[in-house]
Amino acid sequence: MRIDQGAIREILARTDIGGFIGNYVALRKRGNDLVGLCPFHGEKTPSFHVHPDRGFFKCFGCGVGGDVFKFVQQLENVSFPEAARILAKRAGVELEPESPGTARIRSEKEAIYAANELAAAFFHRTLKLAPEAEAARAYVTHRGISEGTVDSFKLGYAPSQWEGLVRELEAHGFDLSLAAKAGLVKEGQRGFYDFYRGRLMIPTHATTGEVVAFGGRALDGSEPKYINTSATPVYVKGRGLFALERARRNLAGSGALIVVEGYLDCIALHQAGFPNAVASLGTAFTPEQAAELRKYAERIFVCFDADAAGGAATAKSIDLLVAVGCSARIVQLPAGEDPDSFVRARGRAAFAELLEAALPWIEFKLDRAADAIRSRFVAPSRVASEAETLVRSLPMAEWDRWRVYLASRLGLAADDLRRSRFIADPANFAPRRAGGATLARHVAPAAAPPGIERDLLATLLDEPALFGEYADRIPAATFKEERYARIFTALSAAKAQLSVAYDVLAALSDDREAVETLASLQAVERSSKVRFVDGESRRLHVERILESLDVAELERRERDLSANIDRLFEAGLPIPPGEIEEQKRLLAAIEASRRKLLGTK
Ligand code: UTP
Ligand code: MN
Repeated sequence: MRIDQGAIREILARTDIGGFIGNYVALRKRGNDLVGLCPFHGEKTPSFHVHPDRGFFKCFGCGVGGDVFKFVQQLENVSFPEAARILAKRAGVELEPESPGTARIRSEKEAIYAANELAAAFFHRTLKLAPEAEAARAYVTHRGISEGTVDSFKLGYAPSQWEGLVRELEAHGFDLSLAAKAGLVKEGQRGFYDFYRGRLMIPTHATTGEVVAFGGRALDGSEPKYINTSATPVYVKGRGLFALERARRNLAGSGALIVVEGYLDCIALHQAGFPNAVASLGTAFTPEQAAELRKYAERIFVCFDADAAGGAATAKSIDLLVAVGCSARIVQLPAGEDPDSFVRARGRAAFAELLEAALPWIEFKLDRAADAIRSRFVAPSRVASEAETLVRSLPMAEWDRWRVYLASRLGLAADDLRRSRFIADPANFAPRRAGGATLARHVAPAAAPPGIERDLLATLLDEPALFGEYADRIPAATFKEERYARIFTALSAAKAQLSVAYDVLAALSDDREAVETLASLQAVERSSKVRFVDGESRRLHVERILESLDVAELERRERDLSANIDRLFEAGLPIPPGEIEEQKRLLAAIEASRRKLLGTK
């Protein structure tokens, strides 16, 4: 649609930009300007200015600025003609006539908006005043919903009648077949009847403010719990989000949106002081919803119910959110709680703490990947390879941090994770010669994972005093490579004197080759950055390495024992019962150590 210049001038003339923007942003007067928190980026001190005299706005924080059309375009994420349409309607300016086809569709939509608006007002009035809504009012109170919240969300009650809304629509001259298109009434053999009866009514708004749909909650435990508007000309299920029209205006503080599953979860959060909550309504979070959220916020908190379905829904929603460029964090509720029950029982501060502790999405996914190893015994190299793929979907600067995190959860060396794509591809290995049937069982996995020597040395060198703590617990045989073994022996001998890097150099001063090895070792480790934020995680890491060395040693003994048992068996000789017992003991110890390794965070 082309908008003519006359209409644009007319809209500008009739629109007070200060008053208009003031509907969305709390503005204070400062000199000739009006100042407030910018709705387009998160900020704590106001840098958003409106100049009413000159008819434009400007944010000195993020640089966005322009006239009132630009403001609407930015805020609603709409094109110029659409912004003009919104402003023209408010200002009572007629735009150029449209083509008959578009005009008909538009007028049908407008009529549905009007019918929905009327229905919302009718339900709301009924809830507040009608004697028959007594039980509904009691229910609202019982759910802890305040009078103010009822008004602000325009909650309502659909009377338990067949023609309550039908009569209201007729009295206002609405075409009932149009109301049927809006999903408000149904047509039966004896005419139109109310679709929603005896339910608590929750209107859903488009981001531009129109009522587009309703959810009706049963009050008597009847099924289904909720009846919702299905597809209408103004509403496609799974495209919008409940309460987004208000939440998007309340981001300035946090720059984040909180996504929950249910209507009442969302309403409870708003009431508790989280005006940036929205609801996805139902189980399936869609790509359209992800894109819609991304228009208004980059940071998204996902807070689905703490049940199995919620966990799966969370995993799926994360993928969708990440795909559109959101940085998602996962709010973890105690088992069996939903946001509504939690915030009502524990209050605002407790929920704020949950937000604070929300997991970055990658951590959530990595935790699930780690859990997957435990439950289905997938080869660690495969999981590591999957994890590496995940890690690589992050900005490069983040890679090593998450490699270290995952490696520590899985008991792998971070270095191995980095190489896991290579390790996981069988094509990278020459085919093994098949052994005899009995011997095949004894094909030994590498005793210690490759890289573990370097990982251990590099970790200790990051904080040389660790040699003093750990040297005695590390078997000298750990270091199979001669040059590492030499460094370890020399540093162990000097362990009491090691506290800074210089001490290390001093301890190795006679051994030029060792110093060079050390330098190259540290260079490699720097580039893969197997480093820890603090001494505690460093110690944890060393503990885990020691633990996995123990496992490797137990496995070696078990293999020897098992080979011996096989030999005796094949030779037809008696097997000493002690050996079988010992083997059982070893297998149990290995199993226990493995569990311990996987279980440590
Ligand atoms: P829940 O079953 O988790 O309900 O469904 P809830 O939101 O906690 O509702 P209360 O607290 O029992 O009142 C989450 C959302 O799934 C949709 C609704 O949007 C609901 O808010 N839903 C659920 C339906 O559309 N139909 C249903 O029958 C159930
Ligand atoms: Mn609930």
